[in-house]
Amino acid sequence: MKKLVVLTGAGISAESGIPTFRDAGGLWEGYRVEDVATPEAWQRNPALVLDFYNQRRKRALQAEPNQGHRILAELEAYYDVTVVTQNVDNLHERAGSSHVIHLHGSLFEARSSVDESLIYPVNGWEMKLGETCAKGSQLRPNIVWFGEPVPRMEEAIAYAAKADVFLVVGTSLVVYPAASLLYYTRHNIPRFLIDPNIPDTPAMPHFTCIADKASSGLARIKPRLIEIA
Ligand code: OAD
Repeated sequence: MKKLVVLTGAGISAESGIPTFRDAGGLWEGYRVEDVATPEAWQRNPALVLDFYNQRRKRALQAEPNQGHRILAELEAYYDVTVVTQNVDNLHERAGSSHVIHLHGSLFEARSSVDESLIYPVNGWEMKLGETCAKGSQLRPNIVWFGEPVPRMEEAIAYAAKADVFLVVGTSLVVYPAASLLYYTRHNIPRFLIDPNIPDTPAMPHFTCIADKASSGLARIKPRLIEIA
């Protein structure tokens, strides 16, 4: 089977009712990203950060995968598919995708704030102050915050470099290193991008760009992807 690697961003979950980051003008539901998604924010106000992610988690639990997530899962009948997602929701998994790399972590994992190898599942929507790891430190969301390293980037690069077909869905491509994944793909492979607003990056001339939403855009290119599988 050929290898299909898909890089997804907030746009693929937009039709499931989860707001994207930058479509609302840099604010995420009234919060500035720097106030909630940085190690400094955690130092300053852990209660605010926990609350912010609790609200995100609650929303993600209420959301259902959409046709876009489902088509990516269906493509496993034709390809060895790896989904590299910047999203912290679990809609790819719930749609049936079996190999998902969460570059920016997961809402459904907590981790120790002193030892990043101590990771625990989060059951339900709420993480609270006072919940501690085995070493006694406060648990934080297992999310990669701005200014932190992206532990799974090397793994994602290894998959991108071996891709036979590469697809990008619903990302503004402004956050690095995630956006650099495009540049690790081989030059002679088919590359597609689906987004209602085609990002203006130097890689775009090498992509077949489909200015459409994730669900309808994926439905449009699915037959083409099957044809070249
Ligand atoms: P952005 O909010 O930056 O971009 C969302 C993209 O989705 C934009 O290009 C939109 O045009 C597109 N979009 C909107 N509706 C869509 C739809 N129905 N179908 C397809 N595309 C649609 O989100 P990301 O690129 O994912 O990082 O942001 C990257 C990272 O920045 C996030 O992972 C997060 C954020 O700060 C961390 O939390 C570390």
